[in-house]
Amino acid sequence: MKEHKIGIIMNGVTGRMGTNQHLMRSVLAIMKQGGVTLDNGDVIMPDPVLVGRNPDKLKKLTEMSGIENTTTDLDSVMNDDRYQIYFDAQTTGRRFDAVKKAIAAGKHVYCEKPVSVDVAEALELYRLCQENNIKNGVVQDKLWLPGLLKLKRLMENDFFGEILSVRGEFGYWVFEGHTIPAQRPSWNYKKEEDGGIIVDMLCHWRYVIDNLFGKVKAVSCLAATHIPERIDEKGNAYKCTADDSAYATFELENGVIAHFNSSWTVRVRRDDLLTLQVDGTKGSAVAGLRHCHIQHYGNTPKPVWNPDIEQPINFYDDWGKVPEQEPFDNAFKAQWELFLKHVVTDSPFPWDLMEGAKGVQLAELGLESSEKRQWLDVPPLK
Ligand SMILES: NC(=O)c1ccc[n+]([C@@H]2O[C@H](COP(=O)([O-])OP(=O)(O)OC[C@H]3O[C@@H](n4cnc5c(N)ncnc54)[C@H](O)[C@@H]3O)[C@@H](O)[C@H]2O)c1
Repeated sequence: MKEHKIGIIMNGVTGRMGTNQHLMRSVLAIMKQGGVTLDNGDVIMPDPVLVGRNPDKLKKLTEMSGIENTTTDLDSVMNDDRYQIYFDAQTTGRRFDAVKKAIAAGKHVYCEKPVSVDVAEALELYRLCQENNIKNGVVQDKLWLPGLLKLKRLMENDFFGEILSVRGEFGYWVFEGHTIPAQRPSWNYKKEEDGGIIVDMLCHWRYVIDNLFGKVKAVSCLAATHIPERIDEKGNAYKCTADDSAYATFELENGVIAHFNSSWTVRVRRDDLLTLQVDGTKGSAVAGLRHCHIQHYGNTPKPVWNPDIEQPINFYDDWGKVPEQEPFDNAFKAQWELFLKHVVTDSPFPWDLMEGAKGVQLAELGLESSEKRQWLDVPPLK
């Protein structure tokens, strides 16, 4: 058995996503399980260096993770041959310059979404990777959520018949901070800091729709900023300049209609923070993050409209829960393992920066559609 030690520069790892999903639940979890085992018995072992601006935060990360290799000097590790991969989970606006630098230093690149703040920059990064033989990937974590994998299995087994429509309901109440502290960073609500729910979520909906239901052909989107003022991390009031809600309809090439509501200003009375309802001629499913409920044609009740009596049907009764049929890992970790394999063995990794650029494209078109109050076609990216 051979061990392939693979150095990873982890930048933005002091942030919410960097710490929780990418360091603790992915890279550290992979190290703790003894690496990623390949078919021939070899093992890939990550060897991360944690990069941040604040030495105190890095110290805290070391205490949490046991990883002592940290630096506040990104350049010092960028040109160090021990590191083959550059990973970026910084705020979105900082990604383009950092990834470009990593490509110039010959590092393979893996990064959070959105890849960049506009399509031109995202495509430039992809082109630079192609020209310089740089392996690249973008986080598309939702594809490995147990609930969505269960949906995929149903589709593989022709559960739905012809799929007619998909309804995505995403969101929850993000506290404004005046009394109860906010649970998301303030930059999310500021346009000038590349925030906004359209930029954030339409990237996700692009790969979820493209990979599961069909290619997105056109978009109509309405953005809203329902909450005008919030309180930041330092206790100061700020004006919300970015959209906190988006009401988007997508037309797919295969005729399926997908409608996604995304909002940080709704209260949850549904199965999960994200639910996807898929309705087909033979059956329907509602997937949450982990679970999936199904109703077949034969279980479909036949309601009759009559508001003058108590509803005689309990609509939840005729749904069944998809049981656990296979093991599921953390979604971010599952994708990390595939990227590490891709770097070491050249195994396929279709979730590259071009796919990331498509997400940025849909977000851009969503914003444009909202501004123009108009349906827009989604042209192929070159
Ligand atoms: N895949 C997902 O589901 C998902 C979910 C949330 C966020 N994200 C993406 O992850 C990225 C980070 O989001 P987050 O919620 O973790 O944000 P965050 O604010 O918690 O973290 C941002 C990180 O960027 C670093 N940073 C910010 N300004 C910097 C500067 N001037 N110099 C150096 N470093 C700086 C911070 O130190 C921190 O490490 C964003 O691009 C966001 O879109 C992805």
